[in-house]
Amino acid sequence: MLLMPTKALKRGMVIAQPIFHPRQDDIVLLQAGFVLDAEYISRLRELDIKSVWVEFEGLEEIDGKINPRIAAGHMALYQAVQESLVELRGRVAVEMNLHRYRVAIEQILLDIVDDPDHEVLINQLQSASMQAAGHLANCCYLSLLVGAHMSGYLRQQRRALPVHVAEDTHRLGIGALLHDIGKLGMPPELQDVCILDEGAEWPEYRAHAQAGFERVQGHIPGAAANIILHHHQRYDGTGFPDRFDRVSRTFRPPPAQDQIHVFARIVGLIDTFDHLLHRNDRPVPTIIAMYVLQTRYGTWFDPVIVETLARLIPPFMVGSMVELSNGKHAVVIENHIEAPCRPTVRLLSESIYGARAQVEGPPVDLRLCREPCIYKASGVDVRPYLFEGKACSGIPMSAAR
Ligand SMILES: [Fe+2]
Ligand SMILES: [Fe+2]
Repeated sequence: MLLMPTKALKRGMVIAQPIFHPRQDDIVLLQAGFVLDAEYISRLRELDIKSVWVEFEGLEEIDGKINPRIAAGHMALYQAVQESLVELRGRVAVEMNLHRYRVAIEQILLDIVDDPDHEVLINQLQSASMQAAGHLANCCYLSLLVGAHMSGYLRQQRRALPVHVAEDTHRLGIGALLHDIGKLGMPPELQDVCILDEGAEWPEYRAHAQAGFERVQGHIPGAAANIILHHHQRYDGTGFPDRFDRVSRTFRPPPAQDQIHVFARIVGLIDTFDHLLHRNDRPVPTIIAMYVLQTRYGTWFDPVIVETLARLIPPFMVGSMVELSNGKHAVVIENHIEAPCRPTVRLLSESIYGARAQVEGPPVDLRLCREPCIYKASGVDVRPYLFEGKACSGIPMSAAR
């Protein structure tokens, strides 16, 4: 199958993964196996759905790499938090929804452990991050994914705890799912502010961390509540809120580095990454989001966690389309951890927008050739962001040559 831009859909194409309504998350618009006609194609475009998975001859090898259970688990998190956001706005106690969160978190954790190296469906994350509930579900899923891949680090950072408690990431999931709950009582213009906006300097916006903590304190486990309080603390000590010392009754500067709980460090990073994936109502190629995360905001985050995330999120998603330096269009079919910007691709006879685009020739492993290299992703020139060697090591390809 292939991740097809909605603008390139044609009559007769067959849907390969269920399509959910972008604004009513419990509605499945189209099921896998549905054959598209002109009416449904224009409906998908009207709903501003950017891309859908379709069956495509010659790309069957991608089918087994996409884990539908993870996609469904992400959707279950989304549904759990979406429903309760309505209730929470009405100031219903948080613990009433805890059971539902726990069930959804437990299920996706099991699926992550079952298939730790699954392809992360960046397109699903990007469409979800447009909404508050989607952003919370994304942060929960990605935080659990990162946590599952760094159990050794969690043990080391939480060494005062028994091993099974130190590695237990359920509380990480709850904190990530509720991290912005303090925004709910705020005016809509403040709820839309994110940490990358100018408004992130406003004290009224910054109050959401403390407000969220006060709302959940005593109702959810302490480690999860602390994520809500500290998810905007930064590794370089420039975060918020200030700490209040109950003994001296004075404010102290925000914590830095290991003084910040490792769970809050994870959620803080994921929160920013999710916002970078979707800016100004447009999906951003993963490679650009990861580059900006590391070059512009690198000092905010724990480098060990950044490296784990960079290893888990390849710059080009399997099933997505790229343009090569020789002008050819291609589909990514396999990523390589040691050369993340040089995946294996299948070439297309013409652009996917063309009437007769089809797979041609055998797979091309871009690791084995200096040229061609990837030139564009989602129609965006990504050459300034290419990395060589280790995943997002910070060495631009031009400098590595
Ligand atoms: Fe926040
Ligand atoms: Fe957030």
